[in-house]
Amino acid sequence: MEHQAKAIDEILEHYPEKSEFLIFLLQDIQSEYGYISKDSMQLVSDYTGVPITQAYSVATFYQSFRLEPKGEHELRVCLGTACHLKGGQRIVEELERKLNINSEETTKDMMYTLNTVNCVGACALAPVLLVDEKYETNITAGKIKKILKKIESK
Ligand code: FES
Repeated sequence: MEHQAKAIDEILEHYPEKSEFLIFLLQDIQSEYGYISKDSMQLVSDYTGVPITQAYSVATFYQSFRLEPKGEHELRVCLGTACHLKGGQRIVEELERKLNINSEETTKDMMYTLNTVNCVGACALAPVLLVDEKYETNITAGKIKKILKKIESK
């Protein structure tokens, strides 16, 4: 923890103590830690003088910022029109049940983060699941079982 605070200080020192550097600081912290913790957000808010609630609304406005740590593997279910029509929502529910989390959450063991995305350009193979950057297509409950088994056997 102390180590983290120190490194954040180093990141802060790269920028003037001004509100217009908020985004740069958040970007640097995220690329260092993978997400922006509550403590980091507080430090950035104190440093830039941007009120904490405003700093959070900026961070949530830009979807690329993460406020929670990400699991080792990211599962993204496509909910674009074609995937939705072919049962994308059922895939989300199946994964939520299997992993015991809701969408946009990470499992306690930090193994998986579950998210949804819009069309990923493989509509003919709907429904589509992205496992990290890999496309898994024509997803069924049975396929999900196999995919998770394969990840866990590694
Ligand atoms: S809608 Fe899912 S790939 Fe296009």
